[in-house]
Amino acid sequence: MNAALPLDPIETASPEELRALQLERLRWSVRHAYENSPVYRRKFDEAGVHPDDIKTLADLGRFPFTTKKDLRDNYPFGMFAVPGDQISRIHASSGTTGKPTVVGYTARDISNWADLVARSIRAAGARRGDKIHISYGYGLFTGGLGAHYGAERAGLTVIPFGGGQTEKQVQLIQDFKPDIIMVTPSYMLSIADEFEKQGLDPAASSLRIGIFGAEPWTDDMRAAIEKRMGITAVDIYGLSEVMGPGVASECAETKDGPTIWEDHFYPEIINPETGEVLPDGEFGELVFTSLSKEALPIIRYRTRDLTRLLPGTARPMRRMEKITGRSDDMMIVRGVNVFPSQIEELLLKQPALAPHYQILLSKDGPLDCLTVRVEPNPTVRADPVALEAARTALGYDIKALIGVTAKIDLLGVNGIERSVGKARRVIDERARG
Ligand code: DLL
Repeated sequence: MNAALPLDPIETASPEELRALQLERLRWSVRHAYENSPVYRRKFDEAGVHPDDIKTLADLGRFPFTTKKDLRDNYPFGMFAVPGDQISRIHASSGTTGKPTVVGYTARDISNWADLVARSIRAAGARRGDKIHISYGYGLFTGGLGAHYGAERAGLTVIPFGGGQTEKQVQLIQDFKPDIIMVTPSYMLSIADEFEKQGLDPAASSLRIGIFGAEPWTDDMRAAIEKRMGITAVDIYGLSEVMGPGVASECAETKDGPTIWEDHFYPEIINPETGEVLPDGEFGELVFTSLSKEALPIIRYRTRDLTRLLPGTARPMRRMEKITGRSDDMMIVRGVNVFPSQIEELLLKQPALAPHYQILLSKDGPLDCLTVRVEPNPTVRADPVALEAARTALGYDIKALIGVTAKIDLLGVNGIERSVGKARRVIDERARG
């Protein structure tokens, strides 16, 4: 067996050492933002705060938040804090409406990012000599290139496939025999389907580890993917505004939520309504401050992701609970708050149904209607009676456990639109009247 890869020294530093490093870097980052980005200078001046006010980590709580709107209002490069000739790469996240959110990196930012993705890949259990197949999209999306540079930095053999061409993904996994795959969990399911379509058992492939992220996925989905693919599945988290993949990543030995790479990102949890900082362990909105980024320092960025901070386990750095929802994903159906992940959990309890799903919100007169589109599981070959029973049971569970009435639409195999990146879980037709 090949050797495991060594940890970065900071991964085993004591909490005191880590806090000291964070404070030193936080002071630098806030000052850098203030001195080099007119947008931050104005925001800090308006809020009556100054970089000199940072005496302890907690002082950050007095600084104003940054939101996606700040980036949009200063489109495309208005928040950059270095001259244009120092920007070595630009990424952008498409967003569903309006202008994309544009982010920039200096050469050192790219190098730090590669270090953190390499750290994430090692935490997932990579060994010297491993081959890694990357199915995150390459291009403006941070997934492909972020994973790629990290995998190279970790010293692995990289197969830069990108998203799409599912048949060929399977062929190359069969032929090149990668040990690790990096892909969205929903696209992993499509690749698994394609294995089966070709009469191959996905659990018999060479893959040993999957590093999944870019979208919410539940622990039940993890269990389903691990069983079907015969792999260890870990969660990698990140967002373009803060860096890209590798802001936090799960350690294979515990698989208990991503460890936040706190030497480069300072996390806070806030009450999304009041903005108040909440203590560790309490549930709220995740906020990040970059501690080392040069091109686009990000101070108290509101991610809209809902989670809580947990103590370190496999590493002394804190973890975040696996994200199962964003505040933007929350559906309010006849007054009840519903997250797609709650429906995913219940769907995965029905083996006769495939793990693919989509939620349709519509209006019946003044009332909201929630429809869950599901498919039969082709590997189970349930008879029509068993399928009908699964459909009824899912509707019953949703009513009993979430508290909303849902219509369950059982489509044919492949009836639900597939994505090669982030799955589109919710279609909201209510506003269209
Ligand atoms: O999705 C970066 C990424 C690429 C992460 C590949 C992991 C792997 P954005 O397109 O800017 O960046 O989208 C960021 O995706 O705020 C979360 O809502 C969601 N997200 C990312 N990772 C996870 C995860 C990339 N592991 C937004 N679990 C974030 C749940 C995630 N949601």
